[in-house]
Amino acid sequence: MSLRLGDIAPDFTAETSLGTLNFYDYLGNSWGVLFSHPADFTPVCTTELGKTAALKEEFAKRNVKPIAISVDGVESHNQWIGDINETQDVSVQFPIIADEEKHIAGLYDMIHPNSSETVTVRSVFIVDPAKKVRLTLTYPASTGRNFNEIIRVIDSLQLTDQHKLATPANWINGDDCIVTPAVDTTKAKELFGDVKEVKPYLRYVKQPNV
Ligand code: BEZ
Repeated sequence: MSLRLGDIAPDFTAETSLGTLNFYDYLGNSWGVLFSHPADFTPVCTTELGKTAALKEEFAKRNVKPIAISVDGVESHNQWIGDINETQDVSVQFPIIADEEKHIAGLYDMIHPNSSETVTVRSVFIVDPAKKVRLTLTYPASTGRNFNEIIRVIDSLQLTDQHKLATPANWINGDDCIVTPAVDTTKAKELFGDVKEVKPYLRYVKQPNV
């Protein structure tokens, strides 16, 4: 069965472009973004890994470690990293797992046989420091993912873990937030100051700590 939100992300030990790695040890107390791609030396994947490398500082600021995976081998990954660095003007420093036996792809349900029997789809798992799965998404091979969106979700998760808030459609860090239904307006004013009540169930406050 596929992993669901709130499940514990399965641990594994794997060969990667940075050597043998244990997932939990690698993450330590960080958040993780585990993302699969169909194959090395393919154009969309090249841009995706380039974008991830370019966002290195943004991930680091949020205490997030990216880790990529495909069913290609370590040698292939290492050669391809050279191409990514050259064509995307980056330095890929996060590990790329070589899941040739498809062990991790199986654990995370990354192969969707009706799409392809042999390669991993574009899955993303955001894992929190307690190793809980906090987001899953799956994109088709033909559509590159938006890694700014992954950062945006992490901002929302980290904010709403700390405060009794939710974030509205298209929210970005710094925008007004939504008071969750469990908090009454008197309490919301105590916690967040001014409350803009559009409807009793739709109440906005300034984002705390900006
Ligand atoms: C790509 O990354 O460019 C790609 C991979 C598999 C199918 C189509 C495109």
